[in-house]
Amino acid sequence: MQIDINLDKNSYKVYIDELSTLKFKGKVAVITNSKVGGLYLAEVLSLIEADEKYTITIPDGEEYKNLATIENILEQLFVSRLDRSNTIIALGGGVVSDMSGFVASIYERGIDFITIPTTLLAQVDASVGGKTGVNNKFGKNLIGSFYQPRAVYCESRFLKTLPRREFAAGIAEAIKMAIMFDEKFFEFFERCDVQNSDDLTKIIQRCVELKAMVVGQDEREKGLRAVLNYGHTFAHVIENELNYKGLLHGEAVAIGINMANRLAVNLGLLSVNEADRIEDLLTKFNLPTKYKIKDENAFYESFSLDKKSENSVIKFILPDGIGKNIIKSDIKKEQVIEVLRLFK
Ligand code: NAD
Ligand code: GLY
Repeated sequence: MQIDINLDKNSYKVYIDELSTLKFKGKVAVITNSKVGGLYLAEVLSLIEADEKYTITIPDGEEYKNLATIENILEQLFVSRLDRSNTIIALGGGVVSDMSGFVASIYERGIDFITIPTTLLAQVDASVGGKTGVNNKFGKNLIGSFYQPRAVYCESRFLKTLPRREFAAGIAEAIKMAIMFDEKFFEFFERCDVQNSDDLTKIIQRCVELKAMVVGQDEREKGLRAVLNYGHTFAHVIENELNYKGLLHGEAVAIGINMANRLAVNLGLLSVNEADRIEDLLTKFNLPTKYKIKDENAFYESFSLDKKSENSVIKFILPDGIGKNIIKSDIKKEQVIEVLRLFK
């Protein structure tokens, strides 16, 4: 199955379960990490037909998503003498695809790259849409570029080796898409069996279709794309409070979704029944929905540190019923604090 990402001259296709021989004219460099490389590199290399093939293996982990690793990758590309007519292939989760895309955007002012995402989160979100980058001491993904891949190959079978918590973290981002855009998709989640490969493929497909719709309208996040940050405003504060340890990003997003929903309930946008249904669904996928806030005022003040807040205006992305979204910039501090107190 193929899904078009329509972006004028930067358009490309996302192929789902269609990975086969990949032909290139010049050199190809596959960027992967130590873990994913051990699982899938040999197979992927065997599918690549190119004049020369190189492999760049980076250490596994978000803590290596930084400029030092970028420098290291660039060095290896120069040593291998890749030029602008060559191609980079990212093989891995969101960390590998974000870094490979960033390298591709700056190596000799831009070289083609394609991604083969191997986590559910990367298949349903990170590998599509062209956000690339790295972290620094000031925060996550603060250095980067918008740079679209030439193609994306999502293989659902690659997810069989994914640890259970990593899989659930990807599900959180997929459920996010359903709540924001598609009530029927949400209902599908309530009855699906993710062990069933058809159901899993359907989830990947629908998420990519929805992401294609969003990115096609708003590549540079001037409006609609911000909706993809539903749950993240709260999640980022939680991750920051925990020093990025203990919870996976998708797990923090699940809690953030629940917090945003309780705010939506108090604002009359969502019924208690709908918020409970969403919480039950997250729980069905072993995702956390609770978090102990120690100081609600400090938690609130941290919202303004998020890079998504503009001129200190805090934008809350909320469900307007299941399947519809609304961006609110006029919520009073007291209304938010009241919700944060529910999580004490
Ligand atoms: P990740 O890339 O760190 O992968 C999670 C773990 O799973 C790693 O240990 C990885 O080695 C391992 N792994 C990957 N594929 C595997 C497989 N098939 N089998 C077994 N293990 C496997 O994490 P992630 O959740 O994929 O991505 C998170 C990153 O994505 C964050 O840095 C985040 O900022 C970024 N992100 C980017 C976007 C975007 O639009 N660009 C969107 C969401 C998230
Ligand atoms: N994952 C958020 C975005 O792609 O905009």
